[in-house]
Amino acid sequence: MSVSPESTIADTAVEERLLKIRGGNALHGEVRISGAKNAALKALAASLLTTEEVVLNNAPMIADVLSMAELLRAFGAEVDIDKEHDRVAVRATEIVRTDAPPHLFKATRASVVVTGPMLAREGEISFYMPGGDQIGKRPIDMHLRGFQRMGTEIIRNAEGIQARVAKLQGARIYMDYPSHTGTEAIMMASTLAAGTTVIVNASAEPEIVWLGNMLNRMGARISGLGSPIITVEGVERLRGVSEIVIPDRLEAATYAIAAVITGGEVTLQRIFEPHLLPITEKLLEAGAEVWHRDGRMLIRAGKELRSVDVQTLPFPGFPTDSQSTFVPLLTQATGVATVHERVYEDRLRYTDELGKMGADIRVARFGEKGEFLATSAEIHGPTRLRGTRVASLDIRSAVSLVLAGLVAEGETQLTDVYHIDRGYADFVNKLNELGADLMDTGEPAKV
Ligand code: EPU
Repeated sequence: MSVSPESTIADTAVEERLLKIRGGNALHGEVRISGAKNAALKALAASLLTTEEVVLNNAPMIADVLSMAELLRAFGAEVDIDKEHDRVAVRATEIVRTDAPPHLFKATRASVVVTGPMLAREGEISFYMPGGDQIGKRPIDMHLRGFQRMGTEIIRNAEGIQARVAKLQGARIYMDYPSHTGTEAIMMASTLAAGTTVIVNASAEPEIVWLGNMLNRMGARISGLGSPIITVEGVERLRGVSEIVIPDRLEAATYAIAAVITGGEVTLQRIFEPHLLPITEKLLEAGAEVWHRDGRMLIRAGKELRSVDVQTLPFPGFPTDSQSTFVPLLTQATGVATVHERVYEDRLRYTDELGKMGADIRVARFGEKGEFLATSAEIHGPTRLRGTRVASLDIRSAVSLVLAGLVAEGETQLTDVYHIDRGYADFVNKLNELGADLMDTGEPAKV
């Protein structure tokens, strides 16, 4: 048989890794929630603050943890990943370089938080802008301004960003917006600074509270965690620690939504209920049933699914990350729902992909002259979704499309599956064990 250029192109496309989802199965059973990505990555960065061993138990086995491990190794740390026991141990006895390898720094957004520990320990770091999901502008001006307030000289040029300080000095730092990674980077930097640092308008996300408590167990003196004002009294040195990573509230929300959207009933094991409150309240409002006890939560679809409005805000507001996973549910609800995305201007782009599956979603942007106030979606439901080929744009949108695929007629084929590897441990198996029909034509990234 002769092979035409066209068929070569077609064959190449067929070989592309796809996640195939056959919709129609109601999910039932129990699923164990892994440790939180956005907590574990920062705790790994915190291990650079001490020469002693830092052990993370319940660490999620995801590609982003591997990227962070590689970055720490590049700085000279020994990192041991025990996949079987979800454990990562780091010993940063000696830092061998202060220039971050660009490919490792650009692999995630979380990489930016190593700037804090590196300035605290070595007094310098040079790096490029971090990478991560393309969900809107992701500047680091608040991180850098915070370091400058603490006496750091920052130079930005074609070689990236160089930050240098003889010894960080405690300072009062006001953040225009409670940046998640900004708060973490500055909080970590101030643990070893001379004097007291006060971060005003700090982020109160649960991962930051957990990280602050871990730093305190390492010998730091941090107070005000979970409030908008965090105070850090600098200390001489920090020691090693063994910690258990908090449950991933964003992963838990995903399986809760999967239960409701498919008309099923799922028990989430190992969750921390207060972190899930914005999600569970919205699920209840939409008509789902929710019970929790002793770190377990049962989610059951109710008799009807009603449209509810959502706006994303910093914690304890509704998480922007769960906006992407909640919208598929709203396509199945009766009525018109409005979703205001207030954190990231481009975080509704994936709704075009949902549109290809038959969703009726109309997006509008608010703000003038480039200023961003909100991007909003009006979701008309219920709509019949049809399986088709759709593309992941980032971690959460990838999972959003899988959730839609669980209720779509026929087969949904998801491309750019690596986004899921970055943030969700054992995703396909966990869903299939609940009764879903997913097939990954490739290999998940090796951790
Ligand atoms: N912002 C600035 N200047 C800054 C920093 C942020 O203007 O210096 C703005 C951003 O443009 C954005 C808003 O502040 O509009 C929020 O950004 P933030 O810095 O709080 O987010 P982040 O630290 O980059 C983390 C998580 C995200 C999560 C957000 C919001 C990590 C590694 N990432 O990002 O998680 O959506 O906080 O909670 O912790 C994900 O897990 O998929 C993910 C994207």
